[in-house]
Amino acid sequence: MSDTAPSTKTYPPSPEMAANAHVDAAAYEAMYEASIADPESFWRKEAGRIDWMKPFTQVKDINYALGQVSINWFADGTLNVSENCVDRHLATRGDQTAIIWEPDSPDEDALHISYSDLHVAVSKMANVLKDLGVGKGDRVIIYMPMIPEAAYAMLACTRIGAIHSIVFAGFSPDALAARVNGCDAKLVITADQAPRGGKATPLKSNADQALLHCSDKVKCLVVKRTGGQTTWIEGRDYDYNALAADASADCPPEEMNAEDPLFILYTSGSTGQPKGVVHTTGGYIVYAAMTHQITFDYHDGDIFWCTADVGWVTGHSYIVYGPLANGATTLMFEGVPTYPDASRFWQVCEKHKVNQFYTAPTAIRALMGQGNEYVETCDLSDLRILGTVGEPINPEAWNWYNQVVGKGRCPIVDTWWQTETGGHLMTPLPGAHAMKPGSAMKPFFGIRPVILEPTTGEVVEGNDVEGVLCIADSWPGQMRTVWGDHERFEKTYFSDYKGYYFTGDGCKRDADGDYWITGRVDDVINVSGHRMGTAEVESALVAHARVAEAAVVGYPHDIKGQGIYCYVTLMSGEEPTEELRKELRNWVRTEIGPIASPDLIQWAPGLPKTRSGKIMRRILRKIAEDDFGALGDTSTLADPSVVEDLIENRMNKG
Ligand code: WT7
Repeated sequence: MSDTAPSTKTYPPSPEMAANAHVDAAAYEAMYEASIADPESFWRKEAGRIDWMKPFTQVKDINYALGQVSINWFADGTLNVSENCVDRHLATRGDQTAIIWEPDSPDEDALHISYSDLHVAVSKMANVLKDLGVGKGDRVIIYMPMIPEAAYAMLACTRIGAIHSIVFAGFSPDALAARVNGCDAKLVITADQAPRGGKATPLKSNADQALLHCSDKVKCLVVKRTGGQTTWIEGRDYDYNALAADASADCPPEEMNAEDPLFILYTSGSTGQPKGVVHTTGGYIVYAAMTHQITFDYHDGDIFWCTADVGWVTGHSYIVYGPLANGATTLMFEGVPTYPDASRFWQVCEKHKVNQFYTAPTAIRALMGQGNEYVETCDLSDLRILGTVGEPINPEAWNWYNQVVGKGRCPIVDTWWQTETGGHLMTPLPGAHAMKPGSAMKPFFGIRPVILEPTTGEVVEGNDVEGVLCIADSWPGQMRTVWGDHERFEKTYFSDYKGYYFTGDGCKRDADGDYWITGRVDDVINVSGHRMGTAEVESALVAHARVAEAAVVGYPHDIKGQGIYCYVTLMSGEEPTEELRKELRNWVRTEIGPIASPDLIQWAPGLPKTRSGKIMRRILRKIAEDDFGALGDTSTLADPSVVEDLIENRMNKG
């Protein structure tokens, strides 16, 4: 976090960039002002990016009052998202590549899927879904590798009005089952196996295990990826490739209301189990399309590559929905940055002549550590814009990205946003802003960031200030509710600071009025750009028979940004051994998934608690950060000696 200290050096856009960009500095000022002065007119016009079946007359209808929170955009309009992402491009760019697919292994051929091909594939999959009994409003879980069929599945759902919920293929069977049950899904779409980094995850057999814990009415549609052996349950499992071969390629898009749910995406919060973030149809697609075009300065014919997985919101908005709504060519990569070696990203950029490249700071840090020769051996002359997302980027990684990858000539858009926000809320624009390494710079159009004093909730005005970040007013891409739990939605985002959307992030506004995200202010940690609730890891740990109690916090980690530090109290009589440590690590991996693997587990005979029994995480965080000087007030602890033991036995971070 201290890494984000404002830098004095700024990087203005080159005159060519400013001259050719969709938005230059003057245009940003004028458009931003217009978007705030008269949001209705602004968004009425911007919504024209999308084809409506029935035009809307109402632009926005927003209420942030606790107990009555409701968010509506373009509410009386109708449209179909797959129509906007596919059909409407057929007349002008049917033969243009919509999706470039680059497989895990460079020895396998890449695919170029045209908009016409996409139309056939999506329509066929939509008909397969219908034949399996899936209809408007039904939920479909997508648990897939990064293959074109994952995008077909998303678009097929939206074509028939089904609501998809993608579960990242790295999640465990237990996590998958929780999501199937959480949204009462009718169908799980998966693949036999997911190849990544030369290894294959047995997705179908994970799904088999998950489905043991789900209603026996849930069906499973299986896409062939590797041809690897899978078990088959007649009457439950369906072979996508066989069904698609016979399916009709004609499936008229369903007319959807702007406020009908488009997808659910589960994400971690500071308490309890992941919540199902609900995005709706009209506002989301307007916002995804607009941010994709403006933030990345996308022009017709550009090759756009977002390295995220479709299991995260970044993949939803900037691999599939935003680019395809804009008629772009979007690259979908199945593999990992370091396979077969650390030059893979750059080889793929060279091979497909990538113009915009969007990745996470954790990947940049990992690749930076491998040495410059992996980059320098590749021709990156087509790169024009670089982007980062997921966590604050430290200046060292920013400078490497700028100099070694971008050769000092590609603006870096440091996009701050969240699963909840649907698209970018703050970012520099490539032709408009003089970038500062580590700063998310400026609000996107229509976004009104507000910094509040955390305890009093008072608005902090002026520059050179810091506090918690809220957003006044709404934007079209905002989440609408938590699936099945509107009360949790209100409580999480609208109850701490009345009248605002609370982001959960801390934020600085520097002397120039530019924004710097300082990290989460709640019990959410950010591990390699993935959001993790410490409560989830804790509940996985205490589910183990030998664990009595656990407290989990983040600590600074060179590559991952934050690592997972666990304090574990064992049941009395249990021996703290290396073996048990390994067992607990594996246990969490199977309960949640590899991304939740504890980095460090410290045996804690006791945890620091207040007299009322509340764990004082502030202290645990400080110990994990080796910041003992700043433990703060420990006088309210029930047993202060606990802290000394924890300090003495803290884990070495190497
Ligand atoms: C949290 C949201 C939305 C894309 C991926 C993550 C952190 C995200 C940045 C950035 C600093 C960032 C915030 C945010 N974050 N982008 N550019 N600079 N922090 O989505 O899993 O919903 O996590 O990621 O803390 O609240 P997510």
